[in-house]
Amino acid sequence: MTDTATPAVIHRADYAPPAFLIDSVTLEFDLVPARTIVKNSMRMRRNPDAARAARLELMGEQLELVSVAVNGVPHAAARAHEHGLTLDDVPDTFELTIVSACAPAENTTLSGLYVSSDNFFTQCEAEGFRRITYFLDRPDVMTTYTVTLRADKAAYPVLLSNGNLIEEGDLADGRHFAKWEDPFKKPSYLFALVAGRLVALEERIKSVSGKEKLLQVWVEPHDLDKTRHAMESLIHSIRWDEERFGLELDLDRFMIVAVSDFNMGAMENKGLNIFNTKYVLANPETATDTDFANIEAVVGHEYFHNWTGNRVTCRDWFQLSLKEGLTVFRDQEFSADMAGGATDETARAVKRIEDVRVLRQMQFAEDSGPMAHPVRPESYVEINNFYTMTVYEKGAEVVRMYQTLFGRDGFRRGMDLYFKRHDGQAVACDDFRLALADANGRDLAQFERWYSQAGTPRVTVETAYDADAQRYTVTLKQGYGDAAPAARATQKGPLLIPFAIGLIGRDGADLPLRLEGESAASGTTRVLDFTETEQTFTFVDVREAPLPSLLRNFSAPVVVEYDYTADELAFLLAHDSDPFNRWEAGQRLATRELLALAARAAENAPLQLDDSVVTAFARVLTDETLSPAFRELALMLPSEAYLAEQMAESNPAAVHRARQFVRKRLAAALREAWLAIYDRHRTPGAYAPTPEAAGHRGLKNLALAYLAELDDPADAVKLATAQYAEANNMTDRAAALSALLAASTSKETPAAESALADFYRRFEKEPLVIDKWFALQATQRGSAARPIIDVVRKLMTHPAFNIKNPNRARSLIFSFCSANPAQFHAEDGSGYAFWAEQVIALDALNPQVAARLARALELWRRYTPVLREKMRAALEQVASQVKSRDVREIVEKALV
Ligand code: ARG
Ligand code: ZN
Repeated sequence: MTDTATPAVIHRADYAPPAFLIDSVTLEFDLVPARTIVKNSMRMRRNPDAARAARLELMGEQLELVSVAVNGVPHAAARAHEHGLTLDDVPDTFELTIVSACAPAENTTLSGLYVSSDNFFTQCEAEGFRRITYFLDRPDVMTTYTVTLRADKAAYPVLLSNGNLIEEGDLADGRHFAKWEDPFKKPSYLFALVAGRLVALEERIKSVSGKEKLLQVWVEPHDLDKTRHAMESLIHSIRWDEERFGLELDLDRFMIVAVSDFNMGAMENKGLNIFNTKYVLANPETATDTDFANIEAVVGHEYFHNWTGNRVTCRDWFQLSLKEGLTVFRDQEFSADMAGGATDETARAVKRIEDVRVLRQMQFAEDSGPMAHPVRPESYVEINNFYTMTVYEKGAEVVRMYQTLFGRDGFRRGMDLYFKRHDGQAVACDDFRLALADANGRDLAQFERWYSQAGTPRVTVETAYDADAQRYTVTLKQGYGDAAPAARATQKGPLLIPFAIGLIGRDGADLPLRLEGESAASGTTRVLDFTETEQTFTFVDVREAPLPSLLRNFSAPVVVEYDYTADELAFLLAHDSDPFNRWEAGQRLATRELLALAARAAENAPLQLDDSVVTAFARVLTDETLSPAFRELALMLPSEAYLAEQMAESNPAAVHRARQFVRKRLAAALREAWLAIYDRHRTPGAYAPTPEAAGHRGLKNLALAYLAELDDPADAVKLATAQYAEANNMTDRAAALSALLAASTSKETPAAESALADFYRRFEKEPLVIDKWFALQATQRGSAARPIIDVVRKLMTHPAFNIKNPNRARSLIFSFCSANPAQFHAEDGSGYAFWAEQVIALDALNPQVAARLARALELWRRYTPVLREKMRAALEQVASQVKSRDVREIVEKALV
């Protein structure tokens, strides 16, 4: 955290190789919470591939310098300053020894070395290592680490670092030590240490080549009963990477450690992954189906980084998506394979739909505002602000497009070549693209624009059928619509868009496809190479006027504009062979209707719902050929945030009224169906977090949620009260509580209050469940008589609330500011005042978390005038008070 007037902007174009390299580093830690001493010995030399530098500049922050020696001789010409240490007159090759101190117990930023529940942890990505010792803290400086940890043995019986344990023993004064050696060169952001009172679930497995591996999941003793799922997820991840990509675990030991104070999800430190407890701990009583699935995905993600991130890492932080986009793609494919194998298309589509929902709701929004940036950004002020939906999720879509273009085998060939060329190196996004191009013999120069252009592309589609000639033409045009200024500046030309398309006949079956110039028809889905601003594709032998199924399986991260009639959408919803597009048709239908209603609601006009929508949804709901998980997604309306985003002027109150109106209509019109669904999809017996069982629970709980919308919610209250009491798992218990809270907004019910109180008592000792308790209340619907801001402010004073714990801050503050739009955007500005207070409070404690919260207002210009002005005032207030570079970058960009 720095307090300078204008924070410096770092530009990708300014990259220069490091002037010095580090051949090896030896670290010795004397771990004491108030003052930890670090002795750092580095073998250094000048980089032959860089311009000769006059001095050595090491990065360092919040460090107390104790001593510096060059080749064992105290170095007089060393100057410590706010950003690091400058050494004049260093030889070409030398041993540099630096002793410094830091204060882990005081470190509320959770970056660098810190204390959580009396144990020590580190978080070094992106630039936390410089808060531990002076170093060349940049990802293209890779070296081997030998680490000795010394600490009080009673307080810190477990001492962990990267790689292999090579020595341990007792010391004087009740202390002990452990020495770890990591055989692989790594950048400093992958360094980690853990010290404390922890226990592990262990497994020994043999990797594909027959080598024995020790796997451990380390947690606090009372959490050992919640580690089994993480361990199983780890074993599945190891097997999957062996099978799908031929990649084997390269260390003898692989450790996961859970920590309850953590800024992000998890971290892929070499051999010692550190996780937010939220993505490790689960048992049926405490974790929902979503939690179980998220744990599997995040364990996979971090494990997969061992190759995509660690063995091949990033040259500089502008290349972050090289590892993150690729690794998100890998974890998405892992989850899809776990759910549906390679062939169950509907099960795979469920995962795809979930991922696309997140992309469209969050990344598309980011891409339309002041923080819009390319997948490979051009500049940043604070790199931690660029761990974004664009770098991660859009980056994953970009990687997915290679697989769409080349198929699974072609993608695998590209991955193989990437590792053959770059194992052990720090490289750039271009290197990945070139490996994919060369392995498949295709020029991908144009594809580079996916990395350099910001904004969400829009593809408009026009079709024409010539019955006499039996020709069907599809004309595609690409552009960016009215993109935000931040995005517009990056846009240079058309993209290579793999555009998957199918044509559906009157009977609902796919037509065989033959493009003009081809000798015969082949397949029923074709991926068109759409490379020009405007391009026409002609299908021949088309016997009847078809209905186009566009962008099947969401083959590119774009918005498709095509004038479907409501009947056509209902037909696609009923018949499209592409499950993603079946879902998509329902969403388009609902979105169109909801936006029309929101426009009327904005003018206080009466609302009315077209019966065709109810009929189309009823048909999906009762279609027993569709999996429950798919039906649940199809019956879920687009979120309020997504809908508000689609309006010319975002009006959260109008969106809320419109969406609630439709929910109530669907609840009332399909009441009998919901009751029947509720009954049919109960899952008696022991809990299992399988996608199939989760699908039944999901559909059943969706039915319960709809029933809770009825003006007389007596059925829902009865069912939910029983479900709450009898539940043998958190999915059902939390869904019941949520339904009771929803029902109580139409009709006061004592059941809601007593369930809420019971929930707290029952899970008082489970922080992750108490997070749910806060979040459920922060996201509940309010009324004029009971605004949720009052509930939230009261909960801020609850003894269990603690703003320093990021999970807890997220569960209450973020849930309200980002997941309860109708209440947060209250016309009186009370939500914004609360937001400003909390951003300022967090800014002083944890800039990374504060900056995330700051982003809740970044789209302020898109709202109705009344809200817009209040948001601007809140932003200006924050801009005038915050200190951190992190928050300043966000609010200053928002106000430009
Ligand atoms: N590399 C981590 C991941 O797997 C994220 C760490 C980000 N940390 C941060 N402070 N920006 O996604
Ligand atoms: Zn990652």
